[in-house]
Amino acid sequence: MKKLWSWLIGLFLLVGTAQAAEMGKFKYEDFKKPQKCGACHKEIFQEWKESLMAQAFTHEWDQVEYFKLALPHALKEPKVAGVKAGCIGCHAPLAFLSGDIPPKEASAGTRANEGVSCEICHNITGSTEKEPFNFSYVIEPGNTKVGPRADAKPMGHKVKQSDFIKSAEFCATCHDEASPYGVWVKETYREWKASPYAKEGVVCQDCHMHRAPGKAATMGPKRADIAHHVFQGSHSPAKLAGAVDLALYVNKKNVSPGDRVKIRAVLFNGKVGHMIPSGSAEERMLWLEVWAIDANGKSWHLPVKKKGFPGEEYTIADPNAYAYFAIGEIMEIKDFKGLKRDGNVPAGARIFRRPFFDPKGRMTVCQWYTAKNDLVDYRIGPRETKIEEYEFEIPEGVKGPVTIKANLFYAQIPSSVGEFFKLPEEEYKPILVNSAEEVLNLK
Ligand code: HEC
Ligand code: HEC
Ligand code: HEC
Ligand code: HEC
Ligand code: HEC
Repeated sequence: MKKLWSWLIGLFLLVGTAQAAEMGKFKYEDFKKPQKCGACHKEIFQEWKESLMAQAFTHEWDQVEYFKLALPHALKEPKVAGVKAGCIGCHAPLAFLSGDIPPKEASAGTRANEGVSCEICHNITGSTEKEPFNFSYVIEPGNTKVGPRADAKPMGHKVKQSDFIKSAEFCATCHDEASPYGVWVKETYREWKASPYAKEGVVCQDCHMHRAPGKAATMGPKRADIAHHVFQGSHSPAKLAGAVDLALYVNKKNVSPGDRVKIRAVLFNGKVGHMIPSGSAEERMLWLEVWAIDANGKSWHLPVKKKGFPGEEYTIADPNAYAYFAIGEIMEIKDFKGLKRDGNVPAGARIFRRPFFDPKGRMTVCQWYTAKNDLVDYRIGPRETKIEEYEFEIPEGVKGPVTIKANLFYAQIPSSVGEFFKLPEEEYKPILVNSAEEVLNLK
């Protein structure tokens, strides 16, 4: 069955490669600069500019991963040669379509820096795939912009109404990705498709492009439901805050030294229309820290109770576990000892993650070099509840009351990887998603 799947994905990939025919079919000049559109679409331009879409190529970690890892790797390992252009197909589509491969680094200031711009999304007319992935968009640049409305009254350009731009499949062209090894390494769309939201008709745009009364253009008519181009995701602490509900329960509240208190944390993903974390799952971590803190401020970190499922060791923080060896190999670092698998997450904390493995079976953050990621998927699914258990034996000499505190954190990248590449700290520092506490009184 698994064989059949990877064969099928391989076949899809061939079709996807045929799509790479869009590569180099156009010139940069065929696409207008976002600032031009911004002259009339002022608010939409501001929103887009602040979003990751505008930084899809220039963002520090994107630059590092492409220029220090993926590109050198593509030049020496034939199996992954395709990612030299492939990364660019989603992160700097203008460069891809203009055949500027590899593009110059962001500091050179070329038009690759425009990232996923207005002219990309509003010239996409469809995909070569029914369930799209790997930049399989079909694009027709020109004076006609693709938009959602049949009654749009544009100026200076024409519009063509499209149902495709309103669909989740539109987003899937870049948000789902298969690696050169035929493994799904990004499947936000496929996660969504299997969720209750797809059945209810709630699409990506509903949660990431909120509607409000206003105008789409300065001279345009007032409308009740303008689509805002905020595209907030995990880089936005505001979007992450409260994305998962957290409740904490203890089996007794009045305790004495020597008592064993049983603690239960209940987590519910009621707001995210796909897994959390999703997208770049190879490097995202969501984890729960449960601490006991006494009145003197003395604290104990409580390890999660093991459940015993296969691959569970990857979901429990271990300060002695090392990973990401491919980084040393690609960068040709002698005696590379790997990086701490779980960064600074305290020992024993539960990590909600999906580990990716390279062809040599080692855990990796290089999604293009991923041969396997089905050992364990312990992320929290849409509308899924996960329950974690803990135990705390009240020590002698503790000063009451004792607070049991649970913090749910999210990080884009393991801190060990962020520190290794000297990334700006905000690209990997923990963001608080939710917290809860219970107080134990000493008898
Ligand atoms: C001279 C002003 C002006 C410029 C410049 C301009 N537009 Fe527009 N555009 C408009 C107006 C006005 C509308 C109509 C808004 C409405 O009907 O609500 C519009 C509508 C649209 C729509 C919406 C169609 C729909 O279905 O609702 C899209 C998409 C669009 N423009 C894209 C662009 C892009 C991309 C650029 C830059 C390449 C651009 N526009 C530049 C004035 C402009
Ligand atoms: C029901 C609302 C909802 C729907 C539907 C939804 N999302 Fe999200 N999405 C969220 C929330 C909330 C977050 C922030 C939490 C997180 O990062 O997982 C998020 C995060 C993301 C992220 C960042 C993921 C990460 O962990 O880095 C991406 C990318 C994303 N969404 C894309 C999509 C796409 C593409 C679709 C459609 C296939 C979609 N979303 C559908 C609510 C939604
Ligand atoms: C990642 C893709 C993407 C990018 C980048 C993007 N848009 Fe859009 N835009 C959309 C989608 C999707 C919709 C329609 C949402 C819906 O109605 O479901 C939309 C809607 C619009 C509309 C109509 C809004 C309304 O509700 O009437 C205008 C105008 C527009 N975009 C202009 C722009 C401009 C200008 C830029 C660049 C500053 C831009 N867009 C960048 C995807 C994009
Ligand atoms: C042409 C390719 C492309 C299309 C189409 C596209 N995206 Fe993206 N999107 C990207 C890339 C590339 C990134 C990653 C930016 C980065 O961090 O480098 C991204 C990032 C995001 C994020 C994450 C922001 C964060 O804070 O982590 C969200 C949310 C998102 N997109 C939603 C959407 C939605 C919704 C649609 C459909 C309406 C869509 N995208 C269509 C390429 C695309
Ligand atoms: C099919 C489209 C696609 C391809 C191909 C692709 N990416 Fe991405 N990439 C995305 C999207 C969409 C996101 C955002 C996912 C999220 O927010 O979790 C992303 C996220 C990232 C991030 C994380 C950005 C951050 O700020 O956390 C990095 C780094 C990255 N990609 C680098 C690469 C490299 C290097 C390659 C080539 C080996 C590549 N990507 C290939 C679509 C793609």
